[in-house]
Amino acid sequence: MLFERPDSGERAVLVHMDFHHEIEREDPREFEELVLSAGGDPVAFIGGQRSSPSPRFFVGSGKVEEIRTQVEQQKAEVVLFNHALSPSQERNLESELKCRVLDRTGLILDIFAQRARTHEGKLQVELAQLQHMSTRLVRGWTHLERQKGGIGLRGPGETQLESDRRLLRARIKAISKRLDKVRKQRDQGRRARSRADIPTVSLVGYTNAGKSTLFNTLTQANVYVADQLFATLDPTLRRVSIPDFGPIVLADTVGFIRHLPHKLVEAFRATLEEAAQSDLLIHVIDCADEEREDNIAQVEVVLNEIGADAIPRLEIYNKIDLVDSKPRIDRDKDGIARRVWVSAQNGSGLDLIEQCLAEWLGEDIIHGRLTLDVGQGRLRAAFYQQNVVVSERYTEQGLSDIEIRLPKQDFCRLLSAEELDPQTVLAEMGAVS
Ligand code: GTP
Repeated sequence: MLFERPDSGERAVLVHMDFHHEIEREDPREFEELVLSAGGDPVAFIGGQRSSPSPRFFVGSGKVEEIRTQVEQQKAEVVLFNHALSPSQERNLESELKCRVLDRTGLILDIFAQRARTHEGKLQVELAQLQHMSTRLVRGWTHLERQKGGIGLRGPGETQLESDRRLLRARIKAISKRLDKVRKQRDQGRRARSRADIPTVSLVGYTNAGKSTLFNTLTQANVYVADQLFATLDPTLRRVSIPDFGPIVLADTVGFIRHLPHKLVEAFRATLEEAAQSDLLIHVIDCADEEREDNIAQVEVVLNEIGADAIPRLEIYNKIDLVDSKPRIDRDKDGIARRVWVSAQNGSGLDLIEQCLAEWLGEDIIHGRLTLDVGQGRLRAAFYQQNVVVSERYTEQGLSDIEIRLPKQDFCRLLSAEELDPQTVLAEMGAVS
């Protein structure tokens, strides 16, 4: 097994440094939440300031001593850094502290590994872990090579590294191939859905904003919800019927975090692709979080990174029960719904979300030909009454073949009133010649 996971409750010393002139500072509180989320038990927090990281240990030698003292006193099993460490810094620290050292990327990967539930998610996590590991091995190798060098000096250590590296490469290749296949299968599923014209709506948002709770309430499905970061890793898809509109596919996605290392964004592309391919994004925001504005900005940054910036979005300000607000819709000057205030937990405002979804998705215009059965006179009359008939002709069998043009929302409403499934009828409709 390449990745032995220790039992939860591992005693951890946390290290967080502030650097002068640092624009994108990591948040020490979020760091602690991440550690708890990974199942760690923070036993000591070491902070400090530096002008720049030290190449050898990232921190200065005085700080290394301070960490060592805490590791010994607290009997810590791991030292976690809220920063990206270079492979050699990680190695130097481990040999100096005689304790396992993990950087921020390793920590996030560990959380992903614990939360991955589907086959695809697990593959993605393993791939990301292997890639993270291989950079460390490769550098370890060059480091040794430089030290040893020369013909006839290849020792057993080096052979071990070489075979480890080959093993890793083979595993990375095998997993990438399997992932490609899984993605293709999913793409086909997505294409089939878009053929049937069922819009996909993805829930995105900062971790812990309440996406899974909202997803559950909206779908009545039973997905795993926990008061932990990253309760969701794989996009969980459900088909839901929205009143006054019709069916949609709702997707729950992994929570965003600040400064997600870029290579992780890449590794989880398929997970996030679901969001990047959606017709609409529901951005869930914890309105009670004092970092609210910052969280919103961070999500926007990640959405841009995954190419989802052009997709229309509806903001859901969740957890209004905590700020004593009433459910409401905020509209812009054109009357378009931009923000809905709700509580996913007690269900208040969910009807407003449904209303906004119908408005947003219903904006699509249906334009096509429809052959009506003899018994569908009422539907024909309704089309005329709504003034949506463009032309009408009769088939050889004497049936009405009408060309209609109307907002999708109205189309769904009219058909539902006749107890017809709008999506089925839409699939049968002919194009306008
Ligand atoms: P990740 O999967 O980590 O991205 O989290 P998430 O956005 O899916 O959040 P989740 O639904 O797991 O909710 C996080 C915590 O917030 C849980 O403890 C929920 O019970 C709580 N929560 C969700 N909605 C509400 C709400 O409307 N009011 C209150 N008070 N708590 C809520």
